[in-house]
Amino acid sequence: QEARAAEMERTFIAIKPDGVQRGLISEIISRFERKGFKLVAIKIVVPSKGFAQKHYHDLKERPFFNGLCDFLSSGPVVAMVWEGEGVIKYGRKLIGATDPQKSEPGTIRGDLAVVVGRNIIHGSDGPETAKDEINLWFKPEELVTYINNAEKWIY
Ligand code: TYD
Repeated sequence: QEARAAEMERTFIAIKPDGVQRGLISEIISRFERKGFKLVAIKIVVPSKGFAQKHYHDLKERPFFNGLCDFLSSGPVVAMVWEGEGVIKYGRKLIGATDPQKSEPGTIRGDLAVVVGRNIIHGSDGPETAKDEINLWFKPEELVTYINNAEKWIY
């Protein structure tokens, strides 16, 4: 079972400063937890602007890049790694569309956010970005391997 856990898919999820300020940490964590995904790393940090620019480097040509990086570095962020079968793609589904006006009800952004610049949560959009983002935000020893008893029923 340890070997299986080591191969399990992982994604990087972050509650942005607006989500933290609005008291939505437990609400967001509970949605991933109840689904059956496993939390394997978590910390609360205020990223520097330079760190935010690294995190969003793919978007550096976009007009909103500077404001986005100012925002991400404006307060505490809850950085997490979640693990489970299909967690990258399904995590995005739980989160909902980038623009909360277009996110379906039932999704995190659909239920809890209104505008794209304050959409409360980040989730990796694919296997490569998941790997890069986990490496950027966490040291390997900050990821915990453990057996969650619920797993034998879920997977
Ligand atoms: P993006 O990676 O396209 O979306 P997602 O967070 O869903 O993966 O964009 C990153 C963040 O940039 C997005 O969560 C909010 C912000 N953003 C804007 O402020 N304005 C925009 O027009 C877009 C597309 C994104």
